[in-house]
Amino acid sequence: MAISPSNPAAALPADGAGIPQAARILRAGGLVAFPTETVYGLGADALNAESVARIFAVKGRPADNPLIVHVAHQDDLAALATQVPPLAWKLAAEFWPGPLTLVVDASPTLPAVTTGGLRTVAVRVPDHPLALALLDAAAVPVAAPSANRSGRPSPTTAAHVLEDLGGQIDLVLDGGPCQLGVESTVVDARGDRPIVLREGAVTREQLGLSPTANGAADLAASPGTRHRHYAPRCRVEVAALGEGPARARALAGEGLRVGLVAPGDAGPPVTHIARFADAAQLARLLYHALRGAEEAGVDVVVIESVEPTGLGRAVMDRVNRAADRI
Ligand code: TXA
Ligand code: MG
Repeated sequence: MAISPSNPAAALPADGAGIPQAARILRAGGLVAFPTETVYGLGADALNAESVARIFAVKGRPADNPLIVHVAHQDDLAALATQVPPLAWKLAAEFWPGPLTLVVDASPTLPAVTTGGLRTVAVRVPDHPLALALLDAAAVPVAAPSANRSGRPSPTTAAHVLEDLGGQIDLVLDGGPCQLGVESTVVDARGDRPIVLREGAVTREQLGLSPTANGAADLAASPGTRHRHYAPRCRVEVAALGEGPARARALAGEGLRVGLVAPGDAGPPVTHIARFADAAQLARLLYHALRGAEEAGVDVVVIESVEPTGLGRAVMDRVNRAADRI
């Protein structure tokens, strides 16, 4: 089945036939959305400047926000970098395949559009059998941001991808819901110790860092953290730990239609959007819940906080950005 860019994207189950077709599309310069363990990515051949430019166009992504290059094997890092620092090899050995993205000095063979004009490149090996099968079959490095319209919640299902980008991309490989639901941790791996540029699914604790080390100055180094993110088409309010239901009831008392994402219930007239027991579960369902709040037609969705330690730190980063508090 040939699928032209002007046709609505088809969601293919990512079985036997889907992978080779998706790989052909990538090699021919097309755009393929695919599942990873974190969120769905929108892939293009990272060495094909025109294809990568199309990613920016369909997402409406600012040109100064570089893409993560996905590869199938640790060793593929060498071809993308001028030289791979020892720390990068060490982290790759420990965390790949997995949700850790390593920033290293970029090989000059990479098009400027892929690296957002920076002299560095971000690389990761995703921990998802379909993503790895696709990368192996395509046999090119694949640049892939999250497969959402820029500024919208990241996609954790093929349906989310089609909601935002259907009709503008060539194919979505449907691998079901993503396991983690929060993006990879981006670290600068050029020095003696990792510097966190974006919080993500690999925690500071796992990286052997103090949970509070490095602050705003370091975050400025990751261009993507400067832009508005994860916003649904309704207001998002963050409630303190344990205070979600009370805050939701108070807002409903003001006459607003209110949605709630919290471990506890508020009861009518508050619409319960999603319930979670811990940070890992909130990570898995957050983006789906933000889209669900839109669909429920609420004016405001209240999200109850989790402790900002471990995975909770990345989750609260996303919650606060969705609420425009960062
Ligand atoms: O889990 C993930 O990382 C997902 C899946 C699809 O792999 N991808 C993802 O891509 O979240 P995206 O484009 O939504 O976010 C990439 C982040 C942005 O904040 C971007 O600025 C940063 O990585 N980034 C990319 N290249 C960089 C570089 N050379 N230096 C610093 N930050 C970089
Ligand atoms: Mg994104």
